[in-house]
Amino acid sequence: MQAGLTQKHPEQQVGRYAIFDQIAAGGMARVHLARLTGQEGFSRVVAVKRMHRHLLENQEFKRMFLEEARLAARVRHPNVVPILDVLATGEELLIVMEYVHGVSVHALMQASVKAKKNMPRPIVYSMILQMLHGLEAAHEATDERGRPLALVHRDVSPQNVLVGVDGIARVVDFGVARAMSAKQDTDPGVLKGKHSYMAPELVHGAPATRQADVFSAATLFWELIAGRKLFGGATEVERLNAVAKGNYPSPKQYARDLPVDVERVIVRGISAKPSERYATALEMAIELESLHVAATPRVVGDWVATLAVEELAARMELIHQVETSGVSLVRQSLPAPAPEVAQAPAIVTPAAKPAAPSALARVPKPVWAFAAALTVLSLIGIVSVMSSGDAAPEPSRAAIAKPAPPPPAAAEPAPEVPAKAAPEPSATAEVTAPEASSPPPAVELPPSAYGAGRRYRPPARPKEFLPNEL
Ligand SMILES: Nc1ncnc2c1ncn2[C@@H]1O[C@H](COP(=O)(O)OP(=O)(O)OP(=O)(O)O)[C@@H](O)[C@H]1O
Ligand SMILES: [Mg+2]
Repeated sequence: MQAGLTQKHPEQQVGRYAIFDQIAAGGMARVHLARLTGQEGFSRVVAVKRMHRHLLENQEFKRMFLEEARLAARVRHPNVVPILDVLATGEELLIVMEYVHGVSVHALMQASVKAKKNMPRPIVYSMILQMLHGLEAAHEATDERGRPLALVHRDVSPQNVLVGVDGIARVVDFGVARAMSAKQDTDPGVLKGKHSYMAPELVHGAPATRQADVFSAATLFWELIAGRKLFGGATEVERLNAVAKGNYPSPKQYARDLPVDVERVIVRGISAKPSERYATALEMAIELESLHVAATPRVVGDWVATLAVEELAARMELIHQVETSGVSLVRQSLPAPAPEVAQAPAIVTPAAKPAAPSALARVPKPVWAFAAALTVLSLIGIVSVMSSGDAAPEPSRAAIAKPAPPPPAAAEPAPEVPAKAAPEPSATAEVTAPEASSPPPAVELPPSAYGAGRRYRPPARPKEFLPNEL
């Protein structure tokens, strides 16, 4: 714990990360806001996932979790929440992620139910498309030698897709489900996974492939369109039986005006037989994209900001406190290295060491004066040689023909932004941007990178929702 902070105190300092309040909790971890501090006042808000301690008693879980996080960190795509760091202290395991200013699809589903409105379909199409592109990027990820990692999410679900106020949907928690399955193998009955999105072949014991993720994504698509659970039995056994049985209903049963082209995409995505399903997430995305029905990120972002206005305003307040706490303390501590906690994490980005005093700084003053005089004398010598016409030889033709190589390109090319490629809603799209009716009240935002202190007036709520049963 840092001392001397004027505003909010972090709960804990781990390496360069000051960990603040919890913002959410799941079956496996608690998610906190944290601030990464660097030199010269640099700081950045991040999200830190803190594993529940009881899970860490299982060494196999811990090992597999770290391994999966290492693999997942290789995925670089705008539709995947990046893993920035992993911290393993003696008794804790923390994953540092990019903070997403937004909410999960699960929270959006719940908010829609509360508001007794269905999600506008162009927004659903956009979120699903982006999720598919994120999944594809992970499925295609390779190791440092270009060999496929065969990464499969295994837990594609509404909780694991975050949608930001920037209108970008991002898949989170890659590889976590695999570590959880290791835990389940060694402690049977202790944990229960989310079975409502599990592909039938997994229920029958087949290994997880990318097509299992396609099935889960299509199941989520089905639910967002139909406004109800696809496999919603009361017990786990009932849900698993429903998945294993096959012969699933079309979403059109619950959304009669659903265009047949969209229905076809969903129905193929939830094919019980993998051979009848899309082979890849990209294949499914391309077919959906070809229908030109998805909303733009701006429309999605406005809708998220409207629907989750209260939660996001509260979060913004917290971020403001995190961003402003102890800034002066960080500045004053420079250029000393960032403090490390007593129990040093095993995998922490090392704090930068203070620069060693340069060799020149140690040279005594008289030597400096002598060196300066020598330099002046040699300069006079060079000038006189050049003016006598005996100049240095010109560079050879070969040297002229070969200009110095350009500086190396950035290590990572900027990834494609599929969300940008999402087409504008066509004239025939069922629902377009939310219309203005009675606009919700404006919310005063604290000054921050997320709101720049402006008064945020959320757009009016979309009209065309229907009650659903999610
Ligand atoms: N990088 C992030 N930025 C912002 N919020 C996040 C981030 N990661 C997670 N969250 C929030 O934390 C919530 C809980 O996430 P978490 O993964 O711990 O639980 P879960 O997905 O509900 O369940 P599970 O334990 O099965 O994964 C998410 O729904 C989301 O609201
Ligand atoms: Mg999760």
